[in-house]
Amino acid sequence: MSEHEEDGARAYDHQLVRRLAAYLAPYRWQVALAVFVTLLQAAVQLMFPWLTKEAIDLGIRHKDLYALDRIALLYLASLLAAFGLGYAQSQIMQGVAQRVMRDLRTTLFRKLQELPASYYDRTPVGRLMTRVTNDVDVLNEMFTSGVDALFGDIFMLIGIIVAMANLNVELLAVTFSVLPLIFLVTMTFRIRVRKVFRDVRSKLARLNAFLNENLTGMTTVQLLGREDRNAGEFRAINAEHRDANLLANTYHAVFFPLLEVVSAIALSLIVWYGGRQVMWTGITLGTLVAFIQYTQRFFRPISDLSEKYGILQQAMASSERIFELLDTPADPAAVRFDEPAPAPPARDGGAERGLRVEFDHVWFAYVGEHWVLKDVSFTLERGEKLALVGATGSGKSTIASLLLRFYTPQRGEIRVDGRPLAGWNAEELRQRIGLVLQDVFLFSGPVEANLRMDDPRLNREQVVAAAREVHADEFVARIPGGYDGELRERGASLSAGEKQLLSFARTLARDPDLLILDEATSSVDTHTEQLIQAGLHRLMKDRSSLVIAHRLSTIQDVDRIVVLHHGEVRDMGTHAELMALSGLYSRLWQLQYLGGRQGARAVARAFAPVVTPTDL
Ligand SMILES: Nc1ncnc2c1ncn2[C@@H]1O[C@H](COP(=O)(O)OP(=O)(O)O)[C@@H](O)[C@H]1O
Ligand SMILES: [Mg+2]
Repeated sequence: MSEHEEDGARAYDHQLVRRLAAYLAPYRWQVALAVFVTLLQAAVQLMFPWLTKEAIDLGIRHKDLYALDRIALLYLASLLAAFGLGYAQSQIMQGVAQRVMRDLRTTLFRKLQELPASYYDRTPVGRLMTRVTNDVDVLNEMFTSGVDALFGDIFMLIGIIVAMANLNVELLAVTFSVLPLIFLVTMTFRIRVRKVFRDVRSKLARLNAFLNENLTGMTTVQLLGREDRNAGEFRAINAEHRDANLLANTYHAVFFPLLEVVSAIALSLIVWYGGRQVMWTGITLGTLVAFIQYTQRFFRPISDLSEKYGILQQAMASSERIFELLDTPADPAAVRFDEPAPAPPARDGGAERGLRVEFDHVWFAYVGEHWVLKDVSFTLERGEKLALVGATGSGKSTIASLLLRFYTPQRGEIRVDGRPLAGWNAEELRQRIGLVLQDVFLFSGPVEANLRMDDPRLNREQVVAAAREVHADEFVARIPGGYDGELRERGASLSAGEKQLLSFARTLARDPDLLILDEATSSVDTHTEQLIQAGLHRLMKDRSSLVIAHRLSTIQDVDRIVVLHHGEVRDMGTHAELMALSGLYSRLWQLQYLGGRQGARAVARAFAPVVTPTDL
């Protein structure tokens, strides 16, 4: 996390403030009301010392009980008014701030959904989490304790100075003689504390990142027996965080008492100088007391202001980061929220099913000129079953990602049903293509919701029917609650095979025209193996399929096989044709045909330049 960005950050940036103001615009009347209430409250606050003065000079000195009673009542009424205004101000401003935060978070979340896969390749999740949570929180702090209170503070300071000048200019000069001292103390404090706080934040960010990674990988940590080592690392980071916080605390422990001392000096100066004035010149006692009270009220906004300056600085830095994320160009293929969803493809049972896919001299690199696919061309006819085989890293999954428009090839063209991919609405394309991965992602929530995925075209009966067809209903029945049973985050309570069956059902229910299976069966346990095979068979019926498989046995009955090697199409043909070629495919086949790990390893050694055992 780049905490250094706050270094020397401006507390006010016109551009940023204008963009932030756009989020406040829908609530402008509430904000205006809040500012008005704040000013009103400051005005009421200004009355208290004046009321005290009147009480002394008019009531006590003249022994006028009637006046004293009335002033005391007025004082009480002002107190109640101040309380009510404070309450109203806080309610209004909190309401606005919470709504602005909700709006901003919603916008951010939508933006995150529009960003291309390549953005996620290079951005740590932790940083994005910080944008949506912490950075938005900082803005909230600015709205609730900064902006409108700032008006109040400035108004209050001016009001106090005017009131004091009205009472006695000489005393005002005496009070102000300590101002340079206050200024010095405050500035010294601010500079140091800003550095320390930045340190605290970056230590906290490290703590969070470490915690995040360790919680996600807890089983791996336990499996590899790294508990002690990681606990040690955590202890070290934690200690740094503690030290940074302690230092910050030390500054606070010095600053606020010091400020007290300075304001006490100012007070004693007033009592000393003002007392003489009362004795020798015409100043009333009430004036002196009012002055003392104004002085006390004068110092609070000053220390508040310096704090608000810091809040503003942080808010500017946070909003800069938020807007940077919002300005990241969206994936051109991203599903837009402001466009209506395309009409679901018509389903007339009689028509020919499936999609036709052409890869036409496709070149693709994730980064720079590091080509992952080189001049790849092949065609998948309607209703055909095509298999992609090749070593790990040969580019099979990349082909699937390109087809789904998660990435865009640098050269060449991909056409679906004769139409270039760029001409397809991504939502329609993804509706018509079903992708089944080895690593199934399930969301926390009921089984049915995980199968339906909020697809408005599906109802419960269809989903249950799909589950039955792929033989998933048997084990769903064993989940407490059945289709209404709750799944844990990522389906943590299910086995790999069970998750696989659910993903088959999820895909079948959507009835795609083209099915992509990316090593969908690799992690299946033997217990569910047969169910999976039957489910797969059902899934592939009556549509085009692109099968990426480790186990060559599962692709024996496909129509054609494309052999990939280091991103290039090496061979293409039916199983029989490829076996006859005695090329890479037949060698892969022999490897697996020999069966068992030892056999595979032995042959793998013989073909080391071509295949490694991990490919199997
Ligand atoms: N998101 C990515 N960013 C950069 N390189 C990637 C990314 N995904 C895959 N690769 C690289 O692209 C190559 C092909 O990967 P992939 O298509 O997943 O292979 P396969 O599915 O055949 O095992 C590999 O060298 C891999 O390291
Ligand atoms: Mg892969």
